[in-house]
Amino acid sequence: MKLLIINGPNLNLIGRREVDVYGKESLDQIINWVSENIKNSIVDLIWFQSNSEGDIIDKLHWAIDNQIVGIIINPGAYTHYSYAIRDAISSIEIPTIEVHLSNISERENFRKISVIEDVCKKQIKGKGKEGYLEAINLFIKK
Ligand code: DQA
Repeated sequence: MKLLIINGPNLNLIGRREVDVYGKESLDQIINWVSENIKNSIVDLIWFQSNSEGDIIDKLHWAIDNQIVGIIINPGAYTHYSYAIRDAISSIEIPTIEVHLSNISERENFRKISVIEDVCKKQIKGKGKEGYLEAINLFIKK
């Protein structure tokens, strides 16, 4: 069972970026923690991070022909305005869960809007790294 986990712009800097919001752990540390906590060995996680919108869209398209059964995406700031990423998610028709480390509903006004929310099965926010694990477990239990 292959799941694709996409992280968008600036998430490569977590651990060093706004640590009061995103915590002290790097993306690699979070990836390791998640992998250690997956109790189901049939799941194959493919992690992808990019700072560019086009690369994220290309990776979403790539999922169609690569046996990806579910996508977990944290599009970073693209969450709030990328209709192109929204259209890509809706075009590929692979179940997608939106994850945010912070609680975007309790931050600045521009973060309260997610343009991808309505094309995702669920939005998980404000749970830090646990949000990725929760999303993976939702796919496993389906
Ligand atoms: C984020 C929230 C976004 O508003 C922000 O631009 C990010 C990270 C989160 O994980 O909390 O880069 O998606």
